[in-house]
Order: sequence, then structure tokens, then C-alpha cells
Amino acid sequence: MDDSPRHMTTLGGHVIAETSRLVPELYADPELLALVSGLIAEMALPVHDPVERHVLNILHREGDTHGAHTDDHPYALVMFLEAPDSPEDGGLLEYVPGATSLRDLTDGPTRTAHHRAGDAYLLRSDTTAHRVTPLTRAGVRRTVLNFAYTTPGAVPRTTPSARSLYG
Ligand SMILES: [Fe+2]
Repeated sequence: MDDSPRHMTTLGGHVIAETSRLVPELYADPELLALVSGLIAEMALPVHDPVERHVLNILHREGDTHGAHTDDHPYALVMFLEAPDSPEDGGLLEYVPGATSLRDLTDGPTRTAHHRAGDAYLLRSDTTAHRVTPLTRAGVRRTVLNFAYTTPGAVPRTTPSARSLYG
């Protein structure tokens, strides 16, 4: 999107489903869906797309980054399996809620969040411009499990860049 960089290793949902029972079960877990629904004050639903519903994003080389984008689906629950301990090592989430353009990330005030392994966040991911800053050195890793959720009224969207990344 907007020629923003993708330097990362990914695993698409269809591949995860072939090799893991835990991840698909957790994704569809009724208690987790109830938790997310409570947080968004709306019914959270699993997405139909097997490629994008649950993915792994792995930044593991110096300079690895997940550039500016919005997600295809309304909500993302992002769980950190690995993360750099120090914010100076990069891998920070930068985001602009209710963005009119991805350029809001460079033109306007941007919020930044540092996460540790074991953290998770829930993002309104289709209208929040977001990106992950580059890892600044070798030897650190940032690995997240990203669960995409939709809502009853949401219009399905599949962008070419998501297919390139996970398909
Ligand atoms: Fe995203």
C-alpha cells in the first residue's frame, strides 16, 4: 500500500491450519470471541477467508519492517510471541486512528506503542493507519500472531497486497 515496505517473513492462515490445531481452535474459541465482542461492543465474527483469518508476522533481520497499511478486516487481535525488550531495538507499533490516508503516519501526530512478549492489543485495523518500525539491529525478533475479526455489517475486502503477503 502506497509502496510502503514489507521486509518480513509471514505464514498465511491456510498454512497454519494445515500444521496447527491450537491456532485455529484458539481463533474460533467462543470465550475469546465473547471477550473481543465485549471490548468492541459489537458481535465479533471469524472471517471466512482462510488465508487472512490468522497469520504469523515475523520480523527477524535488521531492517525488517511491516510498512504502512490498513487491514482488510475491521479488527485485529495481535498477540506477541516474541518482541525486542528495548524500544531502541525497533519493532514499535505506530498508528493513527481514523486515518484519511496512510500519509497521516508521516504528516501528522502519530501514536507509538512498545510491546513485550506476552502482550496483546486489539486494533480497529481497517480505519487505523498502522505500521511497525524497522528492527534496528541483528539478533532481535518480533513475532506476532494476528487474528482478524469482522462484524455483521462489515463489507468484505481483499486487497492484492494481503494476497501477496500471505497467499
Ligand atoms: Fe495490520
